[in-house]
Amino acid sequence: MAHTVTLVPGDGIGPEVTDAVVRMVNASGASIDWEPQLAGVAAVEKTGKPLPNDLIESIRRNKVALKGPVATPIGEGFTSVNVGLRKALDLYANLRPVWNLDGVPSRFQGVDLVIVRENTEDLYAGLEHEVVPGVVESLKIITERASTRIARFAFDYARRHGRKKVTAIHKANIMKLGDGLFLACARAVAREYPDVAYDEKIVDAACMHLVMNPSQFDVLVLPNLYGDIVSDLCAGLVGGLGVVGSANLGENIGVFEAVHGSAPDIAGKGVANPTALLLSAVLMLRHLDEGAAADRLMAALRSVLKDGSVRTRDLGGSASTSTFTDAVCRAIG
Ligand code: NAI
Repeated sequence: MAHTVTLVPGDGIGPEVTDAVVRMVNASGASIDWEPQLAGVAAVEKTGKPLPNDLIESIRRNKVALKGPVATPIGEGFTSVNVGLRKALDLYANLRPVWNLDGVPSRFQGVDLVIVRENTEDLYAGLEHEVVPGVVESLKIITERASTRIARFAFDYARRHGRKKVTAIHKANIMKLGDGLFLACARAVAREYPDVAYDEKIVDAACMHLVMNPSQFDVLVLPNLYGDIVSDLCAGLVGGLGVVGSANLGENIGVFEAVHGSAPDIAGKGVANPTALLLSAVLMLRHLDEGAAADRLMAALRSVLKDGSVRTRDLGGSASTSTFTDAVCRAIG
């Protein structure tokens, strides 16, 4: 039976990379009915709203979405569609597996770690106000419920995927109450999983350790803001934003998206690398129990990257998005 999946092309390079990934997923043999929906600038132009109700309803109905990047105006304009979507659908966990792919130039080899980022609170609650002119207060919200839920997600993931260790990342030496609560919840959950090792690192030290010796890490669990920053740092360990996929997961809904943004500098030029969104689509196929199609796509992607003769510009080649996509489709056979 075909799965119906909400498809959000998004802004900038979004439509180019989603088109490419739809082609590759369709070539993999997975049976998907795509249901296109607008978000971001494209949605504002058509409906007046960056996050239309039709989009939210479509994802609630289908339970799964593949999403291109959506631009967020800086310092003004509409609030982040990504943050709004995560809140509206309670997509509380952001999952980013970070590993090396043969043929992708990178500073390290042997990186194989998984980032689990809390997605709903922290400074991302967006609670800011001007106390008096020239003084702004931004509230960092940490709750026992969200911290326990994300810690449990990280340990469950570790157990299900044969991972050995979960590291909680914090700054509880300074934010003794907020990050202290996050840590207390992680420690309590860790006691329920004696089969998974647990340790803790202060966020600044963790960044240093990550760029010195990333292979010492396994699963990392972080509050929202540190998770945002550290996950891009980790993408940099294995070749950049163009080669890491991600999933935003709630109790029974998954929104799968690349970690990069709308790349306005290259939008419309047909040179974007669709690999990150393809890796997100592979996560989506596994979530849909389409393991065989996911394996076929991964094998094809690996063989094209390893061969190296068809590479997009960000990876040092000159291939266009469509040439790269053709090569992966051919490799699927
Ligand atoms: P960006 O990720 O769009 O671009 C950073 C750099 O990486 C640029 O030089 C870009 O050309 C390059 N790049 C990104 N993706 C690429 C790809 N697939 N292939 C080749 N090169 C690629 O980050 P930036 O410029 O900070 O953000 C642009 C917009 O995207 C902003 O409005 C931001 O809010 C939004 N954004 C959306 C995200 C989402 O929807 N999940 C995530 C991050 C940013």
